[in-house]
Amino acid sequence: MKLTRLSFLSMLLVSAPDILVAQKPEDAPYKNPKLPGEQRVEDLLRRMTPREKAEMLSGSGWMESQPNARLGIPTIRMADGPMGVRNWRGSSAITNAAATSPVLTTAFPAGIGMGASWDEELVRREGQVVAQEVKALGRNMILGPTVNISRQPLWGRNFEGYGEDPYLAARMGVAYIKGVQGENVIPSVKHFAANNQEFERHRIDETIDVRTLHEIYFPAFRAAVQEAGVWSVMNAYNKVNGLWCAENPMLLSETLQKRWGFKGFVISDWGSTYSTAKTVAAGMHLEMPGGEAMRTWFAKPETQKDGNGAGWLTREKVLAAVAAGQLKQEAVDDAARRILRVMFSAGLFDATPASGGEVDTPEQRAVARRAATESIVLLKNEGGALPLGAPKIRSVAVIGPSAAVARTGGGGSSLVRPKYAVTALDGVKETAGSEVRVGYALGVAMQGDEAGQETPRARVMLRNEAVELARKSDAAIVVVGYSYKLESEGFDRPSMDLPAGQDELIEAVAAANKNTIVVIVAGAPVTMTKWIGRVPAVVQAWYGGQEAGHAIGDILFGAQNPSGKLPVTFPKQWPDSPAFGRYPGENLHTAYAEGIYVGYRGFDKRNVEPLFPFGYGLSYTKFDYSGLKITPAKVAAGKQVQVTMQVRNSGSRAGAEIVQLYVHDVKSSVDRPLKELKGFRRVMLNPGEARSVSFTLDHSALSFYSTAKDEWVAEPGAFEVWIGASSRDIRLKGAFELAQ
Ligand code: BGC
Repeated sequence: MKLTRLSFLSMLLVSAPDILVAQKPEDAPYKNPKLPGEQRVEDLLRRMTPREKAEMLSGSGWMESQPNARLGIPTIRMADGPMGVRNWRGSSAITNAAATSPVLTTAFPAGIGMGASWDEELVRREGQVVAQEVKALGRNMILGPTVNISRQPLWGRNFEGYGEDPYLAARMGVAYIKGVQGENVIPSVKHFAANNQEFERHRIDETIDVRTLHEIYFPAFRAAVQEAGVWSVMNAYNKVNGLWCAENPMLLSETLQKRWGFKGFVISDWGSTYSTAKTVAAGMHLEMPGGEAMRTWFAKPETQKDGNGAGWLTREKVLAAVAAGQLKQEAVDDAARRILRVMFSAGLFDATPASGGEVDTPEQRAVARRAATESIVLLKNEGGALPLGAPKIRSVAVIGPSAAVARTGGGGSSLVRPKYAVTALDGVKETAGSEVRVGYALGVAMQGDEAGQETPRARVMLRNEAVELARKSDAAIVVVGYSYKLESEGFDRPSMDLPAGQDELIEAVAAANKNTIVVIVAGAPVTMTKWIGRVPAVVQAWYGGQEAGHAIGDILFGAQNPSGKLPVTFPKQWPDSPAFGRYPGENLHTAYAEGIYVGYRGFDKRNVEPLFPFGYGLSYTKFDYSGLKITPAKVAAGKQVQVTMQVRNSGSRAGAEIVQLYVHDVKSSVDRPLKELKGFRRVMLNPGEARSVSFTLDHSALSFYSTAKDEWVAEPGAFEVWIGASSRDIRLKGAFELAQ
């Protein structure tokens, strides 16, 4: 065929990207929702100029990505989470304090409390409800879940994550992400990787061996990528093995992308970038914050004093790095491609911007209340001290700095503002019923609160007043703990001890009333040695969100049966923690020398008795375990093992039991933890009811990370299955063999 001049020109038109750019895009394939996402992404990318692509790599505001009017690329509108939707109009320091334009949303329990529920379906529901509120507020991305491991009890953000065990954290993280993405809202699992202390979080360099990364600090992120198909991952502030997480190829390109097959984008934590070419080349795709908001914030002396880095992925800097040959255009294309891919997956190009839905509906409140109830862990209950109620108990003294103040969450970017919050005092009044008289005394002011500044004399008077009330009452409930000002993102707790005056208050009240119940509102273990032997009952309530007060009242008065179990070991004292002596490090360096022996793995290894073990929690009823069956007795490599057992409610109340499965490798070529959690089930049972519970164990449940082979390895030989009501209350044991 002979080419006319015109047809030759039109061929050029079709193939030349810059001509495509000039075309009007209304009918372009990327606008067509019926086409496969990848096709739309590639079509759109082809139409973008290098300038437009480079522009996508940094935000346009505090919580917004760059829109593109010419091509109709919308903005990703973010909001902080994960325990609800937080105001997005500035840093957490500003928005938590700003009364001028509060965004009022449902406040869920802290992540550690959700972890204590061991309830995947509940966490999925939470993610779903949070995502619905995100949309209702006209946003489309929520910055959560937090799946960092509780390595040590002083970390200021322990409350945000799901505790010390990688398997439990993975299950909870996956559930949350599925709930969020099911609503077409973009989650961001954070902070990758090993954000386990706030002390010098921008500068600390953590030395962590490869096996420990894969076995302890990676699994929840890996599950987020491989099981939940998470759309976005947020990098951590700290350095891992010498490199900042935002420019760490081992973490980002090698692990996330190549090993795990991550297809979404990596977003920087706010102010965690320190280079242009290195960052983009390593696989960090969207720098936040951006634009004017970033410049104003970064100009503040305290921003830089803290060690924040920002403004490295601006369009100008990215273009300059490419022009100078420091950065490949493909890396920029890849970043833009990944951001666009997620935007298409979440329907951002197709849906009319969602907004106007409802926030804090009765349904959403019900999820928050159920979550608060399931999160509570009954730690001690002697002599039937709990549940309270008539006829034995006709008057209660509710005492303490967290009794009449609702402490819904810890501090920092996760602290949401609810429309209302139920205090423990109100919850107790509601549930106690008219037959029980409820009195209140502060006892001691919360350190750091306004009222905490009284004289020593005033402090004695406050305590005496509480003691007097306790003496006149049939039971005393002392609600103690931390506040968002004392347990927060940005700094660690100075010790594991309760804030000033609280131990003394408990001791004084316990001396006045033998029915003293301690309720702890805190995101991590506290030292209890001074008084644990003097009180009959202790309840761990974490930060329970807006419905915490109802949940506390329901549990204390028996309207609900406690079912939570600890997602973290409670040491007797801080020096018992495996990380003690290695935190916070020296000269901005910390070695994770305890390696894989984090949490119960470390307590087992060194044979240290915890105060309360991982997986522990009491109920008002009793559960019997029986009938363990493991098939086959000898399993071929790569095949699954089926485990079944029966659990029976042998008490007189309905209740939920969390049955835990631990694997013990009898003989291994490498040192392995005594036991590792590889399965759990939450089972609701009526009195007398029995249920069969089953688990499937696959290769991953038997493996360790072999540094020699650089992969997960399950070695042939004998394995044991330990079924327990906690990590230290193993009720059934069985064995099987993994064949060669
Ligand atoms: C926190 C993140 C948070 C971000 C945005 C950072 O300081 O570490 O978890 O999502 O701020 O507020």
